[in-house]
Amino acid sequence: MHKGYFITFEGAEGCGKSTQIRLLGEDLEKAGLSVKVSRSPGGTPVAEKIRKILKEATAGEDLEPETELLLFGACHSQMTANLIRPLLEKGVIVLSDRFCDSTLAYQGYARNLGADTVRKINSYACRGLKPDLTILLDLEVEEGLRRARERAGDALTLAADRFDSEKLSFHQAVRNAFLRLAAEEKERFAVISAKGSVEEVHLRIREEVHARLGIL
Ligand SMILES: Nc1ncnc2c1ncn2[C@@H]1O[C@H](COP(=O)(O)OP(=O)(O)O)[C@@H](O)[C@H]1O
Ligand SMILES: [Mg+2]
Repeated sequence: MHKGYFITFEGAEGCGKSTQIRLLGEDLEKAGLSVKVSRSPGGTPVAEKIRKILKEATAGEDLEPETELLLFGACHSQMTANLIRPLLEKGVIVLSDRFCDSTLAYQGYARNLGADTVRKINSYACRGLKPDLTILLDLEVEEGLRRARERAGDALTLAADRFDSEKLSFHQAVRNAFLRLAAEEKERFAVISAKGSVEEVHLRIREEVHARLGIL
C-alpha cells in the first residue's frame, strides 16, 4: 500500500476552501481512494475544543495574540499526532481546510507576531510534518468578503466570528502573505485562481492534483 498524501487548502475567508475541499474529496472517493477531510483549527476531539476557544468570544477576557498562536500550535500538534500521521501511514489521503500556512499568514504576517516565531511553533507542533501539496485559492479580497457575507446571511452572524469581521487592509495583508509563502515554496504550493464558477475552480484543482501527485 502506498503512503497517503496530505493536501491542505489555504486562502482568505470566503475564497471557496470548504466548497472545493468537499468536491475534491468526493472525486477522490469516486476514484476508489480513502479520504479523510479535516480542518484547522479542529479535526480531533481536543482540537475541536480548542477551536471553540479560538472562534468564540469569551465573556470577560480577550484572547492575547500570543495565546491565539499557541492555541493554533496546540491544535496542530493534536492533529499531527492523532489524525494526520496515523492516517497517512494507512495510505489515506488527508485533506485539511487550512493548516500551518494560515497560522503563518494570519498570526506571523498579518498580526505581526513574526514569521520566524510562527515557523518555529508550526514546526515544533507538527514534528516537521509538511503537506505534500498546498492548494492556495487566490481571490480579490472584496470578492472573498462578498462571498463570506453572502454565506453568513446577515451582519450579526458575521460579527460573531472574530476572523471574518477584520477590516479590508488586514485581509489584503493576509492575501499578500499567502502569495509570498507560495512564492517561497513553489514545489509545495499550487496557486489557483478562485475566480469563476465553483465548477471552473474545481476543474483547476483537479488538474493540479493530477499533475502534481499523479492521482485522479
Ligand atoms: N466559485 C464561487 N463562486 C461564487 N460563490 C462561491 C464560489 N465558491 C464558493 N462560493 C460561495 O461563497 C461562500 C464561501 O465559500 P466557502 O467554501 O465557505 O469559502 P471558505 O471556506 O474559503 O471561507 C459560500 O456561500 C459558497 O457557496
Ligand atoms: Mg470554510
